[in-house]
Amino acid sequence: MLPRRCPARASILGTMTPDSRTPPSQEVPPQTVADFRAAVREHHRAHFRDMPWRETDDPYAILVSEVMLQQTQVSRVLPKYEAWLCEFPDFAVLAAAPLSAVLEAWSGLGYNRRAVNIKRAAEIVVTEHGGVLPRDPVVLATLPGIGDATARAVATYAYGEFVPFIETNVRAAVLHHFFADADGVRDRDLAPVVEAIWDRADPRAWGYALMDYGSWLKRSVPNPSRRSAHHTRQSHFEGSDRQARGAFLRALVRQGAADTEALADEAGVDVDRAERLLGGLEREGFVAREQGVYRIVD
Ligand code: ADE
Repeated sequence: MLPRRCPARASILGTMTPDSRTPPSQEVPPQTVADFRAAVREHHRAHFRDMPWRETDDPYAILVSEVMLQQTQVSRVLPKYEAWLCEFPDFAVLAAAPLSAVLEAWSGLGYNRRAVNIKRAAEIVVTEHGGVLPRDPVVLATLPGIGDATARAVATYAYGEFVPFIETNVRAAVLHHFFADADGVRDRDLAPVVEAIWDRADPRAWGYALMDYGSWLKRSVPNPSRRSAHHTRQSHFEGSDRQARGAFLRALVRQGAADTEALADEAGVDVDRAERLLGGLEREGFVAREQGVYRIVD
């Protein structure tokens, strides 16, 4: 299917002016806030990253992008995002789609539970919210797979709400500038600073600029996130349970059904391990087993 083309538009980031500034909070010295904002804006002017989900205000497309970006790099998300929107252009189509088609479209992104969750979220949006994504992050966070930070990111990018949030790039930028000598910094220590630095006049454009800046910092200085109390290293994918689970699901999407031995072969793992991992997929509702043969649950 051809990728859906978004109409060309002037970048909304053009609206971000030096005047759109939040009054600094009492906890953070005004000069530090001003310096930080200047650094973010300067970086933004030189290195703005164009991404298709930054060119739309369709809440559905923005939700899809945020869920895809939760644990997957931008370069891997880009082609999947475009193809996904062609196949499932809105909440109604996604809600009505068979789970096997949804998992197939997700394949390659990893953490397949996200695909199941976003389909369930679409069903809830259709049945309980009249097909319109709620704008209140508290309500958004009741949808499956939407945590507090994703809910706030979606409300920011889809609706322009002022609801500052902490995700990996935001955390890196704030740690680097405001907690240079600290260790084991908790998100609850960062929260007042994040609130103080976020631009109330254009929360959406500010969020993009801040994320880009944090992402650039992570590549440019020894990873500031290491000083976070919430830092975990990305586990190795090769040979992991996650890789094997992904291989099982891809094989089942392709073949329709298969037994443990065939699936163990596909994933290159021994049968005992395949049994254990397939049991996990069954308990989580991805697959069903009947007479020793597994299928995707629709
Ligand atoms: N732009 C909008 N949301 C983003 C995200 N989660 N990661 C990177 N860039 C983004």
